[in-house]
Amino acid sequence: TFKPLVFSGVQPTGNLHLGNYLGAIRRFVALQEEMDCIYCVVDLHSLTAQLVHRDLKEQTRSIAAAYLAAGIDADKHIVFNQSAVPGHAELAWIFNCVARIGWMNRMTQFKDKAGKDRENASLGLLAYPSLMAADILLYRATHVPVGDDQKQHLELTRDIAMKFNLDFGDNIRAAGTGTDITVGDQPVHAYFPMTEPMISGATTRVMSLRDGTKKMSKSDPSDLSRINLTDDADDISRKIKKAKTDPEALPSELDGLEGRPEASNLVGIYAALSDRTKEDVLAEYGGQQFSAFKPALTELAVTVLAPINAEMRKLEADPGHIDAVLKKGSERAGEIAARTMSDVKDIIGL
Ligand code: ADP
Ligand code: NA
Repeated sequence: TFKPLVFSGVQPTGNLHLGNYLGAIRRFVALQEEMDCIYCVVDLHSLTAQLVHRDLKEQTRSIAAAYLAAGIDADKHIVFNQSAVPGHAELAWIFNCVARIGWMNRMTQFKDKAGKDRENASLGLLAYPSLMAADILLYRATHVPVGDDQKQHLELTRDIAMKFNLDFGDNIRAAGTGTDITVGDQPVHAYFPMTEPMISGATTRVMSLRDGTKKMSKSDPSDLSRINLTDDADDISRKIKKAKTDPEALPSELDGLEGRPEASNLVGIYAALSDRTKEDVLAEYGGQQFSAFKPALTELAVTVLAPINAEMRKLEADPGHIDAVLKKGSERAGEIAARTMSDVKDIIGL
């Protein structure tokens, strides 16, 4: 069996928002008490949409600052940026030759991001999940905390790992590197683990404040649609005040939220920020109007986010410190990555 290890990453594109925090970063912080963790700023992934980003280095530091400000311990765990470890791109190339074009064509994120003019999307955008598989499997990570938008990519990571393990089973044995696992009820001598996504909780999908059917996203053109981690108390208050709702009072039970996506989203955010269940929140606020609930949500959001916001600003004022953290993390990640690449080259005969 494989040693439990967590890997996850966030792209350095645009402001981090409450969805990134509740769906990803806050869970990264919780997991570091239980397992060894590697948290990456996936700068190579950000090239798939647009090759040149003027402030890519600053954006990378900003994500690293958010990791640290949220409470990730970069001494005990590894925090680094993807492009500093060459193994990511190297293993991704090998995985491009393991994965099939049909697998990539099925990815819904590719279809969404490529839009109608698919022939004109970058080849990198199509191959994105192969690089993501390399990010994870370079460390032979067993667990990946992500929002549920990434579930399909995790399935593809397992498909790549499984095909590699099966195609090269004899070579893995000959290289003396694999371990015996069972997949379903099939015994497999595996070099790569069958990585599990960790998708759970009320806020695996935080929705837009302007449209409860769309996920909160960095790429939404409306700034009112999301609460950014860099927003101050006034911004948070203004955005929650303007958040779309319906005219009904809050229900006292969960099924009363059915067909009310905006109400459901705000209750979910309240629950996540206060570490309570939605049921519990409705038991307290059921029967009240949004005019009473919104100020309570604002106060809670400010209480949780203000210290992170303040710490991020402090960290961002000292870019040299963040660069040093990333450099040290890259060196530690690079050692693990070099061992994997050496094994993989043995296995495939490079
Ligand atoms: P975005 O989707 O806004 O461009 P990323 O792709 O960089 O953000 O996602 C970083 C992490 O945040 C991923 O684990 C992703 O699943 C999670 N995430 C992004 N948006 C949301 C959301 N609205 N709700 C919950 N998790 C989210
Ligand atoms: Na995403």
